[in-house]
Amino acid sequence: MDKILVRGGRSLNGTVPISGAKNAALPCMAAALLCDGTLRLTNVPHLKDVTTMLELLGQHGAAITVDEHWGVDIDCTGVNNTEAPYNLVRTMRASILVMGPLVARFGEARISLPGGCAIGSRPVDLHIKGLEAMGAKVNLEGGYIHVQAPRLKGTRIVFDLVTVTGTENLMMAAALAEGTTVLENAAREPEVVDLALCLNKMGARVEGAGTDAITIHGVERLTSASHAVLPDRIETGTFMMAAAVTQGNVTITRTDPTMLEAPILKLQQCGVEVETEGDVIRVRSDKRLRAADIKTLPYPGFPTDLQAQMVVLMSVAQGASIITETIFENRFMHVSELQRLGADIAVRGNTVLVRGVEKLIGAPVMATDLRASASLVLAGLAAEGETLISRVYHIDRGYERIEEKLLALGADIQRLHG
Ligand code: EPZ
Repeated sequence: MDKILVRGGRSLNGTVPISGAKNAALPCMAAALLCDGTLRLTNVPHLKDVTTMLELLGQHGAAITVDEHWGVDIDCTGVNNTEAPYNLVRTMRASILVMGPLVARFGEARISLPGGCAIGSRPVDLHIKGLEAMGAKVNLEGGYIHVQAPRLKGTRIVFDLVTVTGTENLMMAAALAEGTTVLENAAREPEVVDLALCLNKMGARVEGAGTDAITIHGVERLTSASHAVLPDRIETGTFMMAAAVTQGNVTITRTDPTMLEAPILKLQQCGVEVETEGDVIRVRSDKRLRAADIKTLPYPGFPTDLQAQMVVLMSVAQGASIITETIFENRFMHVSELQRLGADIAVRGNTVLVRGVEKLIGAPVMATDLRASASLVLAGLAAEGETLISRVYHIDRGYERIEEKLLALGADIQRLHG
């Protein structure tokens, strides 16, 4: 298995382009199943999770071509299999996103239960309750969710809690349902808005995406369309924090600052200079960061996917920081790895107390989940000496060419093929 070796202590300087958002590309790819034609997606990131989704769509019977710029054509006229098998679903939980489209277009879906993952049990009960509210018959048997509905019926659904893929799955299911569906307490993430945009280009009638009440007027069929996936706000935030923690001066391009108001304000509160102009964010820091408290919340609050990265910044900040994780029940696995580098962090349930230390000292560490692995890279960039990160397959799921992009900014980082 590959490892990443980081030699710390160098400031990042230069310009880095942001790739398309993984968490927008995945639902948009699943939406192709709704269309008896071809959906063309551009600005698709070259990531393990994306190739897994392409493999999943392929085994459903979709015909897929990928061009040299990673433009993806997904032709679902020939889809002939409505089962998503365990061997694929267990490697990527977002596979659950094919459930809504399959039952909406073909009247049936058999999806392996995703199971938990490192950061939490990750149930999909709200996805299932929503489909049942739309008239589907759902049985859980042999580790599979079996959904049947000759035609889904529009209805009003109120989510018990904000769920991003739950909102996306039911938005897609409602696109071909009979009548109108209203999703209340819906997720407001930019990736939900991007999916709605993509669906409407295919002929769907989705209104209110980006608010907590989304209305979908069902139509008879969806047709071919093209859509460019929006930039990745989590990759953007990760590079902003890499610049901040190395006292660097980095220009981040091909992004959208309006998706990052909470992280930008938080970094400014910590003493980082952040300027935005169009699709560019400039991040500068020439002194030790000030500590600040952070609480993760559904969008537009501070994103849970940037929590681990902020723990790194606070571990070398001036002062103490309280960081509360409200979305997932086990998303502090990076803490024990950071403690190996000398971080002073105490975990109390869904909250950590971080006391800033002068510096971290490099050591071998192990990645546990996608965003935790990114935080270990940031820690390695800030630490004195060498940090060797194992199990980096986690990072490849969500960051396109991260070591190349960091090398171009002056980092001393290399991938060791094992
Ligand atoms: C999406 O996961 C993202 N993944 C996650 O990004 C992100 O961390 C998360 O939203 C929160 O923003 C994709 O978009 C592919 P949720 P999702 O449903 O949809 C509970 C990454 O790093 N819940 O919004 O699975 C759930 O357990 C990944 O790219 C239920 O109880 O998250 C969690 O506590 C990690 N029942 C909370 O809701 C349900 O039916 C929010 O989960 C669904 C969710």
